[in-house]
Amino acid sequence: MSGKAEKTVFVCQSCGSQSPKWLGRCPDCSNWNSLVEETRSYARPGLGPWDDGSLGAEAPQPLREISTQAEQRFTTGVLELDRVLGGGVVPGSAVLIGGDPGIGKSTLLLQTLHALSQDGALALYISGEESARQIKMRGERLGVGDSRVQILAETALENIFKTLKTLKPRFLAIDSIQTIFSGDLSSAPGSVSQVRETAGRLILWAKKTVTSLFLVGHVTKEGLLAGPRVLEHMVDTVLYFEGERGHSYRILRAVKNRFGSTNEIGVFEMKDAGLAEIQDPSSLFLAERPCDVSGSVVVPSLEGTRPILVELQALVSPSNFGVPRRTSMGVDANRVSLLLAVLEKKAGLPISGQDIFVNVAGGVRLEEPAVDLGIAAALASSFLDRPIPSNTIIFGEVGLTGEVRGVSQADIRVKEAGKLGFTRCLLPRNNLEKLPVKPTLELIGISSLQDCLGILF
Ligand code: TYD
Ligand code: MG
Repeated sequence: MSGKAEKTVFVCQSCGSQSPKWLGRCPDCSNWNSLVEETRSYARPGLGPWDDGSLGAEAPQPLREISTQAEQRFTTGVLELDRVLGGGVVPGSAVLIGGDPGIGKSTLLLQTLHALSQDGALALYISGEESARQIKMRGERLGVGDSRVQILAETALENIFKTLKTLKPRFLAIDSIQTIFSGDLSSAPGSVSQVRETAGRLILWAKKTVTSLFLVGHVTKEGLLAGPRVLEHMVDTVLYFEGERGHSYRILRAVKNRFGSTNEIGVFEMKDAGLAEIQDPSSLFLAERPCDVSGSVVVPSLEGTRPILVELQALVSPSNFGVPRRTSMGVDANRVSLLLAVLEKKAGLPISGQDIFVNVAGGVRLEEPAVDLGIAAALASSFLDRPIPSNTIIFGEVGLTGEVRGVSQADIRVKEAGKLGFTRCLLPRNNLEKLPVKPTLELIGISSLQDCLGILF
């Protein structure tokens, strides 16, 4: 690297901000102890020294003359992934897939690239973590051992570009971006400057050659993508692959998507032969539901355009200590506290001195206010030790005065419940009045939490 300007800078490993001297706290993102010294030689912008300029610079053109033809999509062959991407992969787009180690990112990508290469398109899988043999073994386990997907075990960005230039793949996966390094920078692989630089150049390559790029990103203990946050800004789509340890379900969630909606989820099950798509998640999440026990209720939650019925469980038991315990998994703890206060004050249940546990079965996370009424009903059911009939589903948003408000797309929720054999539905009165078609279920309109408890218990 002789001849280039070299200089030591201190780079914040969490936000990428630079400082000429060491500081205990990053002035930009206020993180403590995040500055690391890096010798930085300034790489020239663009793809790097191996960019011979053949990609050329483009001239601007009027908006009305730009064709959207290029915005066709390739279906990946993995239906749940297509759904989350917004209908397939867009050529020239960059997709970042984040998730804990061992969750199944490499498995998902290998399965996807295999499916994409089925009709002859060139797909290249570059791994910086596993050898070609290891990937072959995984492929055999997945039943795609004879796949056309090109495999390359490589971590040097310069070598990767050499391969890209000769091979010109249509689909490219980098597993993971934290292992790739550019010789232009002296910092270690995985450091903020390396991640930003290597990802930046790969994304530029993808845009210019209309290659679809998948990047795997590691997740830190705090649940953030390791490396700079800027990585999330650079790509078109950020997907998180989540799942609970000990559960075989995996949920793929879009947190950013320039080509589609961000509230779609994809549901998979990790099996012996790889990831299997779950197209009917409701029946999976309800498979092990106990019937007619107190504290259990089924709620229809809307994930993107798809309703998913899940079981909510609550356990209310007398507290042995001064301060009662509150634990909630899968639902917002603040929401539970609020509902407890409403139950105590408006419905007259002396519940706030009790230990409270709330859990969503199957490791799903519910973020919609439409599940409020379900949570409150489950809490009351456990407190009173009176089961909610297992043919009943409940939804509605609960306000601070105990009123039950209408929620969006009630008809879809009711329809899904009917499909899965539920015969009674408690829903906000407001929704009941506006329901376009009367379904086969018995519908009961609810206008307050007291109403709901009166009907149930
Ligand atoms: P992997 O894709 O390597 O995860 P990541 O790339 O996100 O770190 O998945 C590894 C886990 O998945 C491992 O615990 C084994 C399990 N697995 C299966 O259960 N079945 C399979 O067919 C495969 C390939 C992996
Ligand atoms: Mg992996």
